[in-house]
Amino acid sequence: MKATSKPVPPGSFGLPILGETLQFLLDPKFADKREKQYGSIYKTHVLGRKTVFMSGPEANKFILSTHLEHFSWGKGWPSNFHELLGRSLFVQDGPEHQRNRRLLMPAFHGQALTNYLTTMEQIITKYLSKWEKQRHLTLFSEMKQMTFEIASVLLLGTSPGDNIEGLSQWFADLTNGLFAILPLRTGWFKYGKALAARDRLLEYIDQQIEEKTSNPGDDALGLMIQTRDENGGHLSKEEIKVQALLLLFAGHETTTSMLVSFCMALAQHPHILEKAKAEQKGLKINSHLTLEKLKQMTYLEQILKEVERLYPPVGGGFRGVIKPFMFNGYYVPEDWIISYRINSSHQDKNVFSNPETFDPERFGEQRAEHKKTEYSLVGFGGGPRFCLGYAFAQMEMKVFASLLLRNYGWEILPDQDLTMDAIPTLHPRSGLNIELVRSMNK
Ligand code: HEM
Repeated sequence: MKATSKPVPPGSFGLPILGETLQFLLDPKFADKREKQYGSIYKTHVLGRKTVFMSGPEANKFILSTHLEHFSWGKGWPSNFHELLGRSLFVQDGPEHQRNRRLLMPAFHGQALTNYLTTMEQIITKYLSKWEKQRHLTLFSEMKQMTFEIASVLLLGTSPGDNIEGLSQWFADLTNGLFAILPLRTGWFKYGKALAARDRLLEYIDQQIEEKTSNPGDDALGLMIQTRDENGGHLSKEEIKVQALLLLFAGHETTTSMLVSFCMALAQHPHILEKAKAEQKGLKINSHLTLEKLKQMTYLEQILKEVERLYPPVGGGFRGVIKPFMFNGYYVPEDWIISYRINSSHQDKNVFSNPETFDPERFGEQRAEHKKTEYSLVGFGGGPRFCLGYAFAQMEMKVFASLLLRNYGWEILPDQDLTMDAIPTLHPRSGLNIELVRSMNK
């Protein structure tokens, strides 16, 4: 394919060196504005790289399924991610990725998930009681603590006596470094702090692995240590350390975002809230939650799909182009970056009727709008790199939603800025200040 004879997508590379990075990081409407100006495929220059944004089910299918050989996950991530998250699943491709995904899988399916349910319910119940006492709270930061505790207990086997707050702070430092523009390595700067936090977290995981080698337990780390593939192959200690760190990252920021949006959307749509509460009441859950009961929460599933559609925690996925390609008449050269856009794909009028409206009924059996077009709902990605923690996240969100709907009422407090910011995951700028009260009549 000759590069010069084909047009590259429209758009602007912005300033020399910096490109349009500042706008990308600071303007929540960055991508929407450009899509309006140039259409569903356009070029820009962000985080030091020439990048093409692509939107819509056709582009999603192209990137996530039919043209995989053109793309590399590893090359899609900025260098900060490589250094801070190590050689983990996120940056691996081809056979290396397939092997490691297979070895991580048992920790996220079948019996392992069943074992996680009781702990999830206990931790969520504890946080809801704490919030009830507080009455007024900023949900985003509180929720992050809750999902972090769930992730560290279930993924790393952290016990109640361990310093969860300390771990959580290191983790916040690590996350801040992922999007630091200047990779200055001393402790005064975001990136330097992130490097120090990464080392502390890896040291902690190392200790956990040491303890689990003789007594593995039911958590994901224990399973990772024990899992063998069909040839007896297994993850080394160094591999487990970076994969566990990645899972902690992938596994709680995203769920926090979706749960906060869930609470916001239901408070804004009382008729949907009532229907969700009625479903819970009808299930007659008298004691602990079971997998069977979770499966019966079909309306809640519709609501969660609608939250995924309208408030996807992750705005898109990046890939490095390793083989040039043509899409919709445009040429994209090797070594550029592409990103499939999750949020704008979910606004496609040809797929979703009144896409700006929060309407869980669109996912009911009758309408099932997402089933009519492949790769139209991609909040958890798609194809062979579909989110590894999907079932874990669904379980956690259903347990939280069920306990909340059955036992509490909540309202959004006035005078706050609900503009949605996209980085690191989608959240209302105010963090969502709410009042939470225990329900009188169950
Ligand atoms: C609401 C919660 C979650 C959302 C919205 C979400 C979203 C996503 C998305 C969009 C991708 C694909 C990104 C791409 O194509 O570039 C992905 C991949 C991934 N997710 Fe999740 N995720 C969630 C929860 C979790 C949890 C709980 C875990 C683990 C505990 C997890 C682990 C992963 C991993 C390891 C991958 C990479 C899979 C691979 O490369 O094979 N995620 N997730």
